[in-house]
Order: sequence, then structure tokens, then C-alpha cells
Amino acid sequence: MNAAEREFTAYTGSEALEHIVYSASEIADRVARMGADIAAAYPRDADVLLLGLLKGSFVFLGDLVRQIRRPLQVDFLVASSYGKGTKSSGIVELLYDPRAPMAGRHIIIVEDIVDSGTTLNQLCGGIAARDPASLEICALLHKRIAPDLEWEPRWVGFDAPNEFLVGYGLDQAEDFRHLPFIASLRT
Ligand code: IMP
Ligand code: MG
Repeated sequence: MNAAEREFTAYTGSEALEHIVYSASEIADRVARMGADIAAAYPRDADVLLLGLLKGSFVFLGDLVRQIRRPLQVDFLVASSYGKGTKSSGIVELLYDPRAPMAGRHIIIVEDIVDSGTTLNQLCGGIAARDPASLEICALLHKRIAPDLEWEPRWVGFDAPNEFLVGYGLDQAEDFRHLPFIASLRT
């Protein structure tokens, strides 16, 4: 454990964190390779637009775009898969719709983690209907438990264990998003 990891783990006090699953340096190495893969996947003149799915992807997106050495633009999607209750409603609401035009552009949806796949299944159809030149998904984590994923991510950072993970953008009830590493929660 490095100094930052020790300090962040100590501050949680409540011993909320079980163990560090991906360290900050492991994440940085993987994100750098993903950025290079994405840059290599498009012709030089392609019009590339990354859509970060908020809030969970905000840290990943910030690191990822700085590793993609080619022209691109960035916008966001804000979706909520939860209704008024705490239990997932299975209905994904688009709370912010990007103003950027999508027709004829190469769209990459940037997602923090693919779990049940509900978010991507419901969101991608709507984006595909806007007539982009291509539509791909880049996910930092993939639990590989989605029963029927209609839109499989082209780029995945890590195949994640089926545990509840926090940090590097991922939250539990809005806490822990700022941890520089990814940890599992003690249950
Ligand atoms: P899905 O729609 O079930 O694939 O879930 C996607 C969203 O659920 C992610 O974008 C996260 O915001 C949230 N989520 C799923 N699994 C986890 C987890 O282990 N930790 C934190 N958030 C999660
Ligand atoms: Mg979340």
C-alpha cells in the first residue's frame, strides 16, 4: 500500500473498505493502454465524440481522454436507473441530453462499470437512433454477469469481481467517489 492509499483507507475510519481491488498505479497503466487502443482504432480524420456517463465515469473519463492522442470532443450523458425508491426500477431516465449533434460522428460511450447491463441496453438504442457513423462503448470495469447485454463494450479495463466496488468515480450512496483506487466494500 502506498502513502495515499494508506491515508485514504485510514480516513474511512468505519473500516468500510474490505480491500483494494485495483491500485491507482494499476488503473493508470491500464487506462494509458486503453487510450492508445482507442486512438489506434479510428482513421485520422474521423470525428470522434466521447460521451461520459455521469456521475460514475467522471474520474475515468478525465484520465482516459488525456491518454487518447488524437482529435476528439467530449460531452456527457446523465442517466438514472433508479426511480423514486432505492430499488432499481429497471427504467433508465436520461436526465441530461448532450447538445452535441451525433449524426455521422463516431460516438464512444464511456461507462464506469457494467453490472446488470440495464443502463447500456436502454441507453444505446436511443443514441444509435441518432444516426452516428459508429457507436462503441468503453467501460473501465465489467462484472460479466449481465444476462443479455445487447451492446457489448469494445474496450474494457478490467473484468471485475462480483463485489460492490467503490472509488475512482464509483460510489455507495454518493460516498467514496474520490478515492484514487478501487476497493470493495465490507459487507
Ligand atoms: P447496470 O445498469 O446494472 O449495468 O449498472 C450500471 C451502473 O450501476 C453503473 O454505472 C454504476 O453507477 C452502478 N453500479 C453497478 N455496480 C456497481 C458497483 O459495484 N459499485 C458502484 N456502482 C455500481
Ligand atoms: Mg452509481
